[in-house]
Amino acid sequence: MSAESPESGTLSNLLKEDRRFEPPAAIAEHANLQAEAYDRAASDRDAFWAEQAERLDWSQRWDRVLDWDDAPFAKWFVGGRLNASYNCVDRHVEAGRGDKVAIHWVGEPLDDTRDLTYAQLKDEVSKAANALIDLGVQTGDRVAIYLPMIPEAVIAMLACARIGAPHTVVFGGFSADALASRLDDCQAKVVITADGGYRRGAPSALKPAVDEARTKTGRESGHRVEKVLVVRRTGQDLGEDGWDDSVDVWWHDVVDTASPEHTPEAFDAEHPLYVMYTSGTTGKPKGILHTTGGYLVGTSYTHWAVFDLKADTDVYWCSADIGWVTGHSYLVYGPLANGATQVMYEGTPDAPERGRWWQIIQDYKVTIFYTAPTAIRSFMKQGREIPDRFDMSSLRILGSVGEPINPEAYVWYRHVIGGDRTPVVDTWWQTETGMIMISPLPGVTHGKPGSAMIPIPGVAADVVTEEGASVPNGSGGYLVLTEPWPSMLRTIWGDDQRYRDTYWSRYADQGWYFAGDGAKKDSDGDLWVLGRVDDVMNVSGHRLSTTEIESALVSHPKVAEAAVVGAKDEDTGQAVCAFVILRDEAGDGGADIVEELRNHVRKEIGAIAKPRQIMIVPELPKTRSGKIMRRLLRDVAEHREVGDVTTLADSTVMDLISAQENAGSSDE
Ligand code: WTA
Repeated sequence: MSAESPESGTLSNLLKEDRRFEPPAAIAEHANLQAEAYDRAASDRDAFWAEQAERLDWSQRWDRVLDWDDAPFAKWFVGGRLNASYNCVDRHVEAGRGDKVAIHWVGEPLDDTRDLTYAQLKDEVSKAANALIDLGVQTGDRVAIYLPMIPEAVIAMLACARIGAPHTVVFGGFSADALASRLDDCQAKVVITADGGYRRGAPSALKPAVDEARTKTGRESGHRVEKVLVVRRTGQDLGEDGWDDSVDVWWHDVVDTASPEHTPEAFDAEHPLYVMYTSGTTGKPKGILHTTGGYLVGTSYTHWAVFDLKADTDVYWCSADIGWVTGHSYLVYGPLANGATQVMYEGTPDAPERGRWWQIIQDYKVTIFYTAPTAIRSFMKQGREIPDRFDMSSLRILGSVGEPINPEAYVWYRHVIGGDRTPVVDTWWQTETGMIMISPLPGVTHGKPGSAMIPIPGVAADVVTEEGASVPNGSGGYLVLTEPWPSMLRTIWGDDQRYRDTYWSRYADQGWYFAGDGAKKDSDGDLWVLGRVDDVMNVSGHRLSTTEIESALVSHPKVAEAAVVGAKDEDTGQAVCAFVILRDEAGDGGADIVEELRNHVRKEIGAIAKPRQIMIVPELPKTRSGKIMRRLLRDVAEHREVGDVTTLADSTVMDLISAQENAGSSDE
C-alpha cells in the first residue's frame, strides 16, 4: 500500500463540477431497466440475479443461485449447466436470426472488411472447435490466444469455450517474455497466433514472439507448448527458422477444412471459461479466473442494461482489444450472448488517417460506442475539426472505461462526438469483477462529468475508511464491494492464498472485496473513482505493476536498483517514470543509457510499459525499514515541491535526486 491515503486527495475538481445531464426523454421512455430495478434488486438479490440468468439458455437449470458458504470462493447458479459458445452463437441461429450480422469487421488497410453473420460465425466456431479437438485439445486444457484484432480472435475464443478449454488471451503488444511467463503459469497446451497484424499501415510480426516464447517456457515446470495454430493475416515472410513442422500448423489447413458440424456440450456453471492475466503489486502477473455461468449472466445483463441495448436496431462498437478484459466482456461474451450486431476494428485510430474511427461510425451507423478516456484525450488534442467532418448522428449512447475520465474529456466526448444528444456512461469495473459494477444507467440516472455515479442494480459498493466505516457524503476512502456478484473472479489461477490475501484480507471481518481503488462520495452520495491506491499504475487504461517494471529494469546488467512510479500524464493518464541506480562497474552507463534501458523494458514487457522518463540517480529515498517512498519520487516526476521527508532514513537523498532532475540529466 502506498503511503498516500485517498483521504488526502484533492477535492477541487469535484467541488467545481456542477454540470448535470438528464437522460434524454426518448431513451428514458424505452429504457431496458427502469429506476425501480435498484430497490427490487437490493431487496432480493438472489431473485434479481436469477431473473437475469433467464436471459441465457441453460441445458440444465440451477438449484441454487449463490453458494457463498465457502467465502471468498463463490459458486453461482449451482447445478446449472450451459455452453457459452452455444449461448453466444447457435441459439441466435436457431431462433431464426442466422442472417443477422454478428460482426462487421474492419481491417486496418482500407477496404479490407468482412461481415460475419451469426450463421457464418456458428460454422467458423464449429470448424475451429473440431480443429482444436484434432490437435489434441481436451476439456480443461488451456489454450493461449495471441492474435491481432481479426475475426479469428473471436472465433478462437468461442471455439475454446465450446469445447470447455479455458482460453488465455495475451495482448498482441506483449513481448515474448511476457507471453512465456503466461504460457508457463497456465501451462497452455496450444497457442493460437498469426503471422502478424497491421499496425499503423505496416505489417507487424507476431509469430516470431511465439517461437521465442516457446524456447523460454518450461524451464522450471518442464511444461511444453504442443502445437501452434497460425492464422495467415499479413502473408509476411516467416524467415528460415520461422516454421517448425512438428509444432506449427496453418489455420487454413486445419480449420478451413474441418467440419462445420459440432454439437456443443453443456458444462457446469462453474467450469473455467478463461484466465486473464493482470498486473498486481508483485512482479508476477495474476491469472484472474472467470467461470462460465455467472460470468455470462453478468456480462450479458450489464451489456443490455448499461448500454440499453436494443439488439434489433443497435449497431454497437467497443474499441477495446481482445487482449484486455473489456474485449472479453464487451466485445465477445456480452454482445454476442445478447445477439447484438457489432463493429470490430483491427487497427489504430489514426490509420491511415486521423478520422478513421469517425469514418467507421459514419459508415456503419454505429449507435453505441464504448472507448477509453486516453483515446478521448488524444482526439481532444487533435481538435474537433477532424470528427466534425463526419456524420455521427446515428450515435445514441457513449461509454467510457479504464480510468477516471476527466470532466473536460467527458464533456468534449458528449458534445463533439455525441452531438449533445448522447448520455455518457462512465463505467467502473475491473478484470476481477468481469462486468461493469458502477455506472449510470443511460435512461435512468443523470450524468455528472467525472463521476461513475452509483452501483448498477444488483451490485453493492461503498467507500470506507481504513477501519471499514462507511464515509459520509463529501469524503473519500477505499472502494469496496460489499456483496458477491455473478461474474466475480473465482480465484487467482493456481494461487488461492494470493486471491484471499489480495482481495479479501483487508476487510476480512466484514467479508468485503477490496478493489484497490480510492474513491469519494460527493454531496449527493455519487461516487468518484480516484484511481489505484496500491503500487499499480494505469497507463492509457492498462494496468501495469511498478514491481514488474522494476524487475525488468533490474534484470539489465548495468542496473543495481530501480524504483518506478506512475506520474500524471496529459495523454495517457499516468506515465511510467523510473529512477535507476547504476552498478558501479557500469560507470555513467554511457551516452545512450536511458534509451538502452527504455528499450530493455520494451523487450521484457512490451511497448506499453516503456518508461516515458528514466532518471539515473545516486540513491533512492527509503524509510528506515527500507521501503522505497514512492510518494516522494512521484513529487519529483510530477515536478512538485517534494513533500514531507521526515521518515526518510537519509533526508539528504531527495536533494540529490532533485538536483539531478534540475540538471535535466536524463529526461528525453
Ligand atoms: C480503473 C478495466 C475510474 C480502476 C475494465 C480499476 C476506472 C482499474 C474506471 C481496472 C472508471 C476502470 N473510472 N477508474 N470508469 N474503469 N478504472 O482490470 O483503477 O484493466 O481498478 O479493467 O482501472 O483495470 P482493468
